[in-house]
Amino acid sequence: MKKISIISGGSSGLGLAIAELLVKNGKNVIILGRDGEKLSKAARRLSMFSETAHISTLVCNIGNEKDVKNTGKFLKEHKIVTEYLFNNAGRGLFNPVTESTAKLVDDVFEANIKGMILLTTEILKITPEKEELTIVNIMSTSALYGRDQESIYCAAKWGARGYTEALRTELKGTKRNIIAVYPGGMKTDFWKITSDGRDISGFMDPGDVAEKIVNAVLGPDKLIVTDITINRKK
Ligand SMILES: NC(=O)c1ccc[n+]([C@@H]2O[C@H](COP(=O)([O-])OP(=O)(O)OC[C@H]3O[C@@H](n4cnc5c(N)ncnc54)[C@H](OP(=O)(O)O)[C@@H]3O)[C@@H](O)[C@H]2O)c1
Repeated sequence: MKKISIISGGSSGLGLAIAELLVKNGKNVIILGRDGEKLSKAARRLSMFSETAHISTLVCNIGNEKDVKNTGKFLKEHKIVTEYLFNNAGRGLFNPVTESTAKLVDDVFEANIKGMILLTTEILKITPEKEELTIVNIMSTSALYGRDQESIYCAAKWGARGYTEALRTELKGTKRNIIAVYPGGMKTDFWKITSDGRDISGFMDPGDVAEKIVNAVLGPDKLIVTDITINRKK
C-alpha cells in the first residue's frame, strides 16, 4: 500500500504551497482541481522540489459526486492509502445580500462545503479503519465572523465548520484526526474571481500560511493540534 496526501485545490494558492511543503518533507501527493492544464503546470513546479516523493494530479470537481467516486476508484485500484486529506479547494464570490441568487449559492457552496463533504465521505469509506487518517479542513476566518458582502461565503464556511465539528464528534475514538484551519486574507488567485476591488497588498503570503499549517499537521506523532487560526500580525 502506498501512502499519500491528497490536496483538493492543489493547483494554486494555499493548496499548492501546502503540496510544496509536503513534497519537501518526502510525502507523496495527489493534487485535485478542475483544470487539467493548471494541475500539470503545478505538478511540474512540485517536481522541482521532489527527490523521493511521488507527485500525481487528478482532474476532479469535488462538488461532483461522479468525479469524487472516480477519484476513490483510482485510489483503490492503485492500492493507495490516504494519510492526509487537505480539504482546501474553495471559491469566494461576494455580493450584497439583496443580490443573492440560486446560481451564486450553488457556485459558492460547490467546493466550500458540498465538495468538502463528498470528498471526505469517499476517503473515509475507502481508508481501512486500522490506518491513521488526518483530515485537515481549510476554512476561513469568515467561518468565525459574519462579514459585509460575504453572506453566502460565510454561510458556506460556517457550514463547513459545523460539518468539521460533527465529524470530530462522530469519529472520536477512531484512527481519524480532524484539524480545523481558519486563515485570514491571503494574496492568491482567489481574489481574481471575486473582483470586488479589495486591496490585498497587505494580505498574507500563502507560503507563510502553508508553513504554519504543515508544521502543525506533521508535528510530533503523539500530539494533535485541533484548531488553527492564522492572521497577520497587526
Ligand atoms: N485567499 C484568501 O484570502 C483566503 C482567505 C481565507 C480562506 N481562504 C480559503 O483558502 C482555500 C484556498 O484558496 P486560495 O486562496 O488558495 O485560492 P485559489 O488560489 O483560487 O485556489 C483555489 C483552488 O481550488 C480549486 N477549486 C476551486 N473549485 C474547485 C472545485 N469545485 N473542485 C476542485 N477544485 C476546485 C482551484 O482550481 P480550479 O479552479 O482549477 O478547480 C484552485 O486550485 C479556499 O478554501 C479559500 O476559501 C482563502
